[in-house]
Amino acid sequence: MLTRCALALVLSTVAWQSFAADCAVEIEGNDLMKFNVANIDVSQRCKAFTIRLKHVGKLSRNVMGHNVVVADAADVAGIDADGIKAGVTRHYVKPEDPRVVAFSPLIGGGETTSLTFQVAKLGKDKPYVFFCSFPGHSSMMRGTLTLVP
Ligand code: CO
Repeated sequence: MLTRCALALVLSTVAWQSFAADCAVEIEGNDLMKFNVANIDVSQRCKAFTIRLKHVGKLSRNVMGHNVVVADAADVAGIDADGIKAGVTRHYVKPEDPRVVAFSPLIGGGETTSLTFQVAKLGKDKPYVFFCSFPGHSSMMRGTLTLVP
């Protein structure tokens, strides 16, 4: 009886973990101004989706800061330009920017951060991207974010 109970508990924990893993991803940014993934798949079955960012470098956030911004690809240049004006204290993202689906705080080497957004905020046929809005980083630190069934 006890064994059966324990087995059920293990199985339900495994099921929960695999479900949770589908709705979150961890990516890395480094001192060479690069993310370690080129695309993030976001399942439409997820209500919310989380991107965790780990800065695996050693440089400070003022020198080699990284964040993650999710937006329509067509808006990257505009978000970037306004982000530079917003400055480092605002994580290089204009406050309340309606073009930004979600963004994480800006971090330096050795730090970790994350963002979470409602998947319903993504339009079905738009080419979404994730990128770093630190000045000069978006051309290299950028990947696609694809809505999948
Ligand atoms: Co960066």
